[in-house]
Amino acid sequence: MKKYTEMTKEELEREKKLTEAEYLDIKAKNYSLDMSRGKPSNDQLGLTESLLHILNKGADCKTEDGIDCRNYGQLFGLKEARVLFSDLLGIPADNIILGGNSSLNMMYDTVARAMLYGVPGSDKPWCKQEHIKFLCPSPGYDRHFHICESLGIEMIPVDMTPDGPDMDTVERLVSEDESIKGIWCVPKYSNPQGITYSDETVKRFARLDCKAKDFRIFWDNAYAVHDLDDHGDKLLNIFSLMHGTKYEDQLYYFFSTSKISFPGSGVALLALSDRNLAATTKIIEAATIGPDKINQLRHVRYFTNAEGIIDHMRLHGMVLKPKFDVVLDTLEKELKPTGIADWTRPKGGYFISLDVADDTAKETYRLASEAGVKITKAGATFPYGKDPRDRNLRLAPSYPPLDELAAAIHVICVCAKLAYLNKIS
Ligand SMILES: Cc1ncc(COP(=O)(O)O)c(C=O)c1O
Repeated sequence: MKKYTEMTKEELEREKKLTEAEYLDIKAKNYSLDMSRGKPSNDQLGLTESLLHILNKGADCKTEDGIDCRNYGQLFGLKEARVLFSDLLGIPADNIILGGNSSLNMMYDTVARAMLYGVPGSDKPWCKQEHIKFLCPSPGYDRHFHICESLGIEMIPVDMTPDGPDMDTVERLVSEDESIKGIWCVPKYSNPQGITYSDETVKRFARLDCKAKDFRIFWDNAYAVHDLDDHGDKLLNIFSLMHGTKYEDQLYYFFSTSKISFPGSGVALLALSDRNLAATTKIIEAATIGPDKINQLRHVRYFTNAEGIIDHMRLHGMVLKPKFDVVLDTLEKELKPTGIADWTRPKGGYFISLDVADDTAKETYRLASEAGVKITKAGATFPYGKDPRDRNLRLAPSYPPLDELAAAIHVICVCAKLAYLNKIS
């Protein structure tokens, strides 16, 4: 088959008629398929079924040190849980605060605390400074952008490259503009492209010279251990690169077990330098007496140690890999010959990023919605929902069963083709 760009007018007309007919056939099937959010499937949730009843009675809720997890206390979380994540992530346990059930919540709170109180290095709280801005590598995670929007922080998009954010631009902007206070990073299997930052990129982040004395990197390592198989990407440990250097206060590092155990009922983590920890402690001790230690203990008892988590993630990979394969094979078969689209081929995480032809993402999304297939809204992967080229779509293969996923991705391919053929005719 010829690429669309190489077809004659007549050939394109014929292709359009065929694609329209295919789209009408699809619509007649009355699909109701959802691949909009990166949620684990029921099969994945079942992998941690026994975590639900690992603590059966009061006596099970005592730690080795005799702490009764049913009662108040332990502001930073259980020692054994901090040690578990310390081993997994290579971060000293003393620099780890375990929170509640959501790292996004910890990210919001961290930005909100900076707005209200400032951070070490701030002359005044961020909200008292004239106008503040965050760099937003794009495409990126819509909920990071939502935090900024909700708190009135201006977002500056920065292009993503196959090695991570465009570091020349990042370095230039943070060195020139004092009102830039932060950057969002998803360094491993980024949402939505599944890109892992190169060693060079991580090293440049670890030595970022900023005009603002209170600049922070929001390092959201949500997919740190989420490989599809044993050949996953390797990410440098930014915490150890920065620890003990003059840059160490510039890092806030986040992680959670949402996609290891249960989203919404996992354990979230914030790792930070001693100075940041001391400043944060003063504030959080006004806000809470401590997190849910029973859930932290469940996780410790269930996984035992870092290897326990890594072994468990192999099971997730075995469920997820065939789903990624179906999506990638279908894109390869149906869209590659047309030459109108490009996509990422991640080795882990939860998403595939599909770039359709310029100015057709919204239309592809609309056609798919009308045919009963829900995907993340076009534009959502950019600050303010504005994709400058209107081409990026986020595909989330995890939740639907395989047969539904295959049907959904076929629909998206047909819609991408039709949106292009309609545009050029
Ligand atoms: C990059 C990223 N960070 C954070 C989250 C949410 O994490 P949590 O459930 O810990 O709030 C997600 C969920 O999709 C995500 O993709």
